Amino acid sequence: MSALAGKRIVLGVTGGIAAYKAIEVSRRLVDAGAHVVPIMTESAQHFIGTTTLSALASEPVQTDLWHNPSTPIPHTKFGQGADLILVAPATAKLLAAYRMGYSHDLLTNTLIATRAPVIVCPAMHTEMWEHPSVIDNIDTLRQRGVHVVEPESGRLAGGDVGAGRLASPEAIVAAAERVLGPRDLTGVQVIVSAGGTREPIDAVRVVANRSSGKQGYAVAAEALARGADVTLVSTVSLPAPVGAIVVPVETAAEMQAAIEQRAPSADVIVMAAAVADFRPVAAASGKIKKQDGVPEVLLEPTPDILAGLGATKPARQVLVGFAAETDDLVANAQIKLTKKNLDLIVANDVGASQVGFAHDTNAVTLLRPDAEPVEIDLAAKRDVARAVINTIVEIRASTQTGKD
Ligand code: PMT
Repeated sequence: MSALAGKRIVLGVTGGIAAYKAIEVSRRLVDAGAHVVPIMTESAQHFIGTTTLSALASEPVQTDLWHNPSTPIPHTKFGQGADLILVAPATAKLLAAYRMGYSHDLLTNTLIATRAPVIVCPAMHTEMWEHPSVIDNIDTLRQRGVHVVEPESGRLAGGDVGAGRLASPEAIVAAAERVLGPRDLTGVQVIVSAGGTREPIDAVRVVANRSSGKQGYAVAAEALARGADVTLVSTVSLPAPVGAIVVPVETAAEMQAAIEQRAPSADVIVMAAAVADFRPVAAASGKIKKQDGVPEVLLEPTPDILAGLGATKPARQVLVGFAAETDDLVANAQIKLTKKNLDLIVANDVGASQVGFAHDTNAVTLLRPDAEPVEIDLAAKRDVARAVINTIVEIRASTQTGKD
């Protein structure tokens, strides 16, 4: 279950060109199981209509401090009942009013009359974002514990380009998950590998596999949401989960070097990548010509990165492998669990429908030494990632207390 499931989130929308993106933020929050209570300022209504947001949130948009048919006390009702207040986009005016406690409309009243955590997602022109007054307001809000999702650089209203564009809906929702979810991996150093390695045959051809990287990225996103410092060693170019350090690699040898360099200081390593088991002994430097006939490509084994990590694993480190199987799922994964000295292996039957490579869903069996297998039925890869991270947290807790 997502950290947002069942949470009551007030989504404040202020008057900027990025207001249209609040609709996508609302949709994603609702999809994650949150109850979204939208509040729009008067200025926001110049940019988007209330009907669209009302249709996609969990209840109709609130706009009015004075003539509100839903409650006689709108200035306190919404903030008091919230688990989180999220303002996206937050204009310079909203930041200034919130900093001053200047509660002139429904949204600013709601921000003052709450004990819930608050996230603001500023969006404005670069000159405004860099103005000392805005910098000062943001600093003060941060000191008070307000969470700030910083804007990105990119195209702004009027065709200008620079810092100040609203963060992506994905980044905003990830921030909400971080604020509302358990922080049971705070300060924990996690390495996740993702994607399939590509082993060159010549200058243009590779030995590859079907891994999209989605499962590894989902593990990285969940670890980040739980407070971990995440390094993602990746062969693919999916949008990186916000806060991850991404180390791009292509071959098994590059992945091995990147991981082994960082492994000694890692508390958790999750090998979700599909590492090629074989690679061409030598890659031709140019393109092998078709007219020269069908080439014979001699293969050799790649290094087994995970087995190497298992052989040198520090006692405090939790080492997790994945097993991609098409038959005898549990028996084959069990052998890998033991042989590679793992704390956990996540076995997926990649021949099953909607499971494994490239799908948005997965179904897995979690195997640990000396514990009963746990089956996770077909679910979104992020839900599978949550189950994996929950098990890692359990393993860390049992190692630290010396019991299982
Ligand atoms: O990326 P997606 O499209 O989302 O698909 C997800 C996935 C199917 C790739 C993922 O769920 C998965 O199963 N990853 C592991 C794939 C794999 O290589 O399995 P394996 O059974 O061949 O290897 C066992 C473990 O050893 C894996 O953790 C693998 O990373 C590791 N290994 C394998 C070979 C090798 N030379 N070095 C390794 O470290």
